[in-house]
Amino acid sequence: MRRKLVAGNWKMNTRRDDAVALAAALSVGLSGGSASADVIVAPPFVWLDAVASALDGSDIQLAAQNAWCDPPGAYTGEIALEMVRDVGCNWVILGHSERREMFGDTDELVGRKTAAAKQAGLGVILCVGETKDQREAGETEAVLSRQLLAGLDGLDVSETDGLVVAYEPVWAIGTGLTATSEQAESAHAHLRNEVAVRYNATVGESIRILYGGSVKPDNASELMSQSNVDGALVGGASLQAESFLAIIQAA
Ligand code: PGA
Repeated sequence: MRRKLVAGNWKMNTRRDDAVALAAALSVGLSGGSASADVIVAPPFVWLDAVASALDGSDIQLAAQNAWCDPPGAYTGEIALEMVRDVGCNWVILGHSERREMFGDTDELVGRKTAAAKQAGLGVILCVGETKDQREAGETEAVLSRQLLAGLDGLDVSETDGLVVAYEPVWAIGTGLTATSEQAESAHAHLRNEVAVRYNATVGESIRILYGGSVKPDNASELMSQSNVDGALVGGASLQAESFLAIIQAA
């Protein structure tokens, strides 16, 4: 049985005080335990330290939204994976479509980052997803396979523990459009099968695959009740404690 996972991607949102208040509200909201779901939040880098303190004593885990794959050195403006670990993250989100589209994260770079993150001892949420044009052209599965396999390129079967895949159709991110539960289930089943072929049936069966793209309290339950949907990667609705807690509740 795969344990559900709900991750909140705060993107480039919140001021310091909002971030700390949000983390504190989540911590209080989940103080009775989050039942059967793991919970992760991914604040902006600059608030990680403050959010880590606000989450002290709670089961909520911390993720970075990105990181660079080389060891510390002359990379102006970048953050190394070991720094991410040092500040208290045990996860990193890699390959988000906003990074791919706006910041030049190619399939190959996402693969290098994924391998380096696992070597640094971090769990990875590897994001993949097709654009609207690609879906309409019938290329969804091909795009998902390409992004997934490139992302896993440097990853040995022994490193697949703590690997999570997030299916995020680009056309559903921040648009209010959500994949239907059938579309999500079909994409997730495809991704799970690809993981099984790349590694083995056990890894395919155990890997968690999250859905992301306009997940809200009112659609979370149906999406996460699909047999291959193991949780959610939530953007906008993770910025309010009430809606994020409701999604965790649905999980
Ligand atoms: P959204 O973002 O929930 O605001 O659509 C999801 C994501 O980008 O991870």
